[in-house]
Amino acid sequence: MTIVTLPRVFSGIQPTSDSIHLGNYLGALSHWVTLQQTHDCIYCVVDLHAITVEHDPALLRQRTRMLYAQLVAIGVDPSRSTLFVQSQVPAHAELQWVLGCITGMGEAGRMTQFKDKSQKEGSDRATVGLFTYPILQAADILLYQAAGVPVGEDQRQHLELSRDLAGRFNGRFGDTFTVPEALIVKETAKILDLQDPTSKMSKSSPAGCLSLLDPPADIVKRVKRAVTDSDGEVRFDPQNKPGLANLLTIHAALTGGTPTQSADQFSGGGYGPIKAAVADVVVAFVEPLQQRLAELTADPAELDRMIAAGGERAAALAAPTIAAVYERIGFVRGGA
Ligand code: TRP
Repeated sequence: MTIVTLPRVFSGIQPTSDSIHLGNYLGALSHWVTLQQTHDCIYCVVDLHAITVEHDPALLRQRTRMLYAQLVAIGVDPSRSTLFVQSQVPAHAELQWVLGCITGMGEAGRMTQFKDKSQKEGSDRATVGLFTYPILQAADILLYQAAGVPVGEDQRQHLELSRDLAGRFNGRFGDTFTVPEALIVKETAKILDLQDPTSKMSKSSPAGCLSLLDPPADIVKRVKRAVTDSDGEVRFDPQNKPGLANLLTIHAALTGGTPTQSADQFSGGGYGPIKAAVADVVVAFVEPLQQRLAELTADPAELDRMIAAGGERAAALAAPTIAAVYERIGFVRGGA
């Protein structure tokens, strides 16, 4: 008998909003779901990362639970994949400390996301935690010996740091970590703001955003009010008709076709029918998710047990790595 082990991937998402939106789903999270068919997947709700900027504790707890439940509702299967909450596995913080001690100040200071965020926060409010954020991210990945990390283009530099740190540790202390590859998720479907189709869909612009938790009536309203153009001709032309192209992209992504096929289907009819069809497919998509979510959140104690089981499973996977790291770095071990 041959035992086939699937290549392992790790990815993380911050619990920083109440609901996943359609852009998150079609851009990245739908890949998390499909990767389960071909990979050993470890997915993490990164609450330690979420406290690197000012936050409200009750809201963080609520969002962490809800994000976990939403990931299950979209199809991340906790019996097949390891789905867990970062703070439940102490090894993340432990490994981060060790990796921090082999990271240069200058090296960490070159991370563009830190530079951007700390500029926004102002130098007094930007925390040391924000500075070490990418080192914690490296710890997340390296703890599980992940071969691949599905992330968006914006995470490329953090992945480079993870690779550098893995290689450096291995070189100094002996082979310990798998050097991970970035699996940059090509945004097959980049979903734009319904009100401003020149920027990405974002929760910060509610009128232009479709969230998985939105009541169907709100979805219909927002799609109907989506900005298009005045020539009334249905064709897929992202350059000149970005608003319409965005609607066609959403329609295609949820019906399994291409935007051009969707355009052909609705050509000659003006914008009313395509808007109605988009509203229909989005509602048809979110309704069963909301149903599943309602079931998952109906029993909070059961949800917390599910989360804890994910944490135990992750901790067991992380244990050999942190043990090897502590051994190689020269900490006194044993007594067992
Ligand atoms: N920094 C990532 C983001 O903001 C989230 C993240 C934390 C992550 N740890 C990770 C992604 C490990 C991939 C792997 O999107």
